[in-house]
Amino acid sequence: MEQALYLCQHGYYSSGRASIGRRGDYFTSVSVGPLFGQLLAAQFVQVWQRLGQIDNFIIAEQGAQDGDYARDVLGAIRNLQPAFFEALRYRIVEPFPVLQDRQLQTLEKFADRVEWRRSPPDLEPFTGIHFSNELLDAMPVHLLVSTGDGWREKFVALEGDKFVFANQPIVDPALQAFVKKLPTRPAGYETEVNLVALDWIDHVAAKLERGHVLAFDYGFSRDEFYAAYRTTGTLQIREKHRQLSSPFEQIGHADITAHVNWTDLAERAESHGLRIAGFTDQHHFITGIISEMPELSEEPKDKRALQTLLHPEMLGRAFQVLALTRGAGPGAPLSGFKFARDPRAALGI
Ligand SMILES: C[S@@+](CC[C@H](N)C(=O)[O-])C[C@H]1O[C@@H](n2cnc3c(N)ncnc32)[C@H](O)[C@@H]1O
Repeated sequence: MEQALYLCQHGYYSSGRASIGRRGDYFTSVSVGPLFGQLLAAQFVQVWQRLGQIDNFIIAEQGAQDGDYARDVLGAIRNLQPAFFEALRYRIVEPFPVLQDRQLQTLEKFADRVEWRRSPPDLEPFTGIHFSNELLDAMPVHLLVSTGDGWREKFVALEGDKFVFANQPIVDPALQAFVKKLPTRPAGYETEVNLVALDWIDHVAAKLERGHVLAFDYGFSRDEFYAAYRTTGTLQIREKHRQLSSPFEQIGHADITAHVNWTDLAERAESHGLRIAGFTDQHHFITGIISEMPELSEEPKDKRALQTLLHPEMLGRAFQVLALTRGAGPGAPLSGFKFARDPRAALGI
């Protein structure tokens, strides 16, 4: 997965071949249109106000792809709250030069607001927001298969000139430690472990002085993630709006994802002193924002986009958002979480 998506000119993302939207391989909330960024901009204004309208507010975005979301957010903040726009710097965390070039073009008008860093450890300690949409599902995972009384890892091997899976004992010490905590599952049950996401939150937590981490993605709480009925894992391979049956098809030309285990991520964040400030689905999150700013969705073209973002059978239920916070006080929940359940209960913590 790491090589198929990220190996220099061969990887689906690192080569610049990834194509998102109607004419691409799959949709995201960002590709639905500018409304997603506009709604989030309204939420960011509230965060800025609650943090005391500080002068040096950072929005760090990771997984920015072509820069469309950054453009939508910056444009909306400039309209909604010019004083916030003046106080704001937008930092895109982007390791791939080909994507940084595209972002530079998309964000030409905002050149004096935007800066780039290669990875979270390169970020300076900051007050503000770390935002991502569909970053976590694109991180390379380990594939595990149950033997009934333990686990083996599925590695990629060659048989003749074909790639095949080969089940082997687990050798990675971090993965060995991780599987000790897994529930027992019947032989043949498959699942994924995203250690990269845990590493990622370690680094982001180390840089966030005050503010929020807001991560949108599709996933499950831990109980749902290891639900006995899901025996085949959550790996998905997508190309031109079709699901392919094997990651060995269209290598470097198709997207590969796995669902997020939100509970693992939230607990790891708590171990770094972050507070779990909210967890809900995209439907409830956006409904909360709109309830305070109905004018955001009044135009007819926005109504269609809103339906796509909100509808339970489109993006509304499939996507969740996790908010982790430091130093922003207990206070009332952000407007996106005003219709949400208690986040720790929802995550099974
Ligand atoms: C599924 S796409 C989502 C793109 C965009 N956020 C959207 O919603 O349309 C995943 C993105 O994450 C990026 N990505 C993956 N790993 C990354 C990393 N370690 N740092 C920054 N970006 C990363 C990929 O290059 C790609 O742009």
